[in-house]
Amino acid sequence: MFAARIPRRLPRLTLHSRFISTTSPTRSESLFIHRDTDYNNPKIAFKFTPENLKRAQEVVSHYPPQYKKAAVIPLLDLGQRQNKGWTSISVMNYVAEFLEMPPMRVYEVATFYTMFNREPIGTNFVQVCTTTPCMLRGSTDILNTTCSHLGLKPGETTKDGKFTVIEVECQGACSNAPMMAVNDDFYEDLTPESTKKILDAFAKGEIPKPGPQSGRQTSENSAGLTALTSKPYGPGEFCQPEFQ
Ligand code: FES
Repeated sequence: MFAARIPRRLPRLTLHSRFISTTSPTRSESLFIHRDTDYNNPKIAFKFTPENLKRAQEVVSHYPPQYKKAAVIPLLDLGQRQNKGWTSISVMNYVAEFLEMPPMRVYEVATFYTMFNREPIGTNFVQVCTTTPCMLRGSTDILNTTCSHLGLKPGETTKDGKFTVIEVECQGACSNAPMMAVNDDFYEDLTPESTKKILDAFAKGEIPKPGPQSGRQTSENSAGLTALTSKPYGPGEFCQPEFQ
């Protein structure tokens, strides 16, 4: 229809000279679609341990009874921790039943938030940040060092089940970039050498000291003090005599 309105004398080349760049669509089904497997299917029983049951009841008690479904994220987190760091379909179904909400609502939450791992992970879950501030401070080296040291690619788990490595977006520790999280702790101001040391310590079952690995205190200026360097006023100093 459109071609019929094109004047015959117009060179065809003119119509085709504009390039449109597209990236190939990435299949991300694994993030959203559940397929039953022998290790992840609704027949595998899950329920909170007595200790976690108490915690769950405590969490739910913070909400008005008619809004208890608002506790879905903390309860999924509790379930994930109990289930060795990942959220199986049984965990989701159990939380849905616990909060008396449709399972689909729980699936929606678990598939939206990347903090919920929908596949089993290693004992040490390494998340290397590669967002801009970390990238500018060398996160590519940190990711490459981590992967080559452990002999895997992002998204994989070592054969002994000790490590899973993934690449993540900003973790909110940009002032101490580059950084990675291992389980619940942040390791910051990383270099390839300090990264290897940290991974070796975890491999031995130790938990290295979290925080900046450069020796600085939290996120203080790595160039040292540049303000408030003079002696602070004493009480009453420079005041009118009557106020001294
Ligand atoms: S960019 Fe890496 S923590 Fe913010």
